[in-house]
Amino acid sequence: MLIAYLSLTGNVRRFVEKTQMNSLEINYNAPCEEVHEPFIVIVPSYDDNITDIVSSFVSFKANLNYLIGFVGSGNLNFDNEFCFNAKDLAKKFNKPLLYTFEFSGTEKDVIDFKKEVNQFASAGTK
Ligand SMILES: Cc1cc2nc3c(=O)[nH]c(=O)nc-3n(C[C@H](O)[C@H](O)[C@H](O)COP(=O)(O)O)c2cc1C
Repeated sequence: MLIAYLSLTGNVRRFVEKTQMNSLEINYNAPCEEVHEPFIVIVPSYDDNITDIVSSFVSFKANLNYLIGFVGSGNLNFDNEFCFNAKDLAKKFNKPLLYTFEFSGTEKDVIDFKKEVNQFASAGTK
């Protein structure tokens, strides 16, 4: 399972490092990169631009065929808008929102996230 992620100020990047999983950082200015294996996408929340950039990545070539779902990083102070980009993307591409966490996540977030993702990884190999 590959983790594709976008990170503007480093929180998501730090979370991904803690998972020690295979990863690919989406380039904010050049998001179109091809993947060849099942992947999830972790996105921070800022504005609609984030949804557009990640949509470009997900829609590039055959990437969508490998997309498992989305994970959001945000700040609970944003209340109803918490992780709205990940939620919007999940709706737009009709894929599950697998997990949400604040900032770069806690140790518990890393464990719970991995449990969630592993369910999908093993389901995919059955
Ligand atoms: C200008 C600005 C707008 C933000 N808007 C939201 C938001 O609407 N919803 C949310 O949950 N978090 C929001 N955040 C919090 C970030 O999504 C959060 O800090 C995230 O962990 C950043 O990830 P990154 O450091 O990898 O870019 C905002 C942060 C900033 C600085």
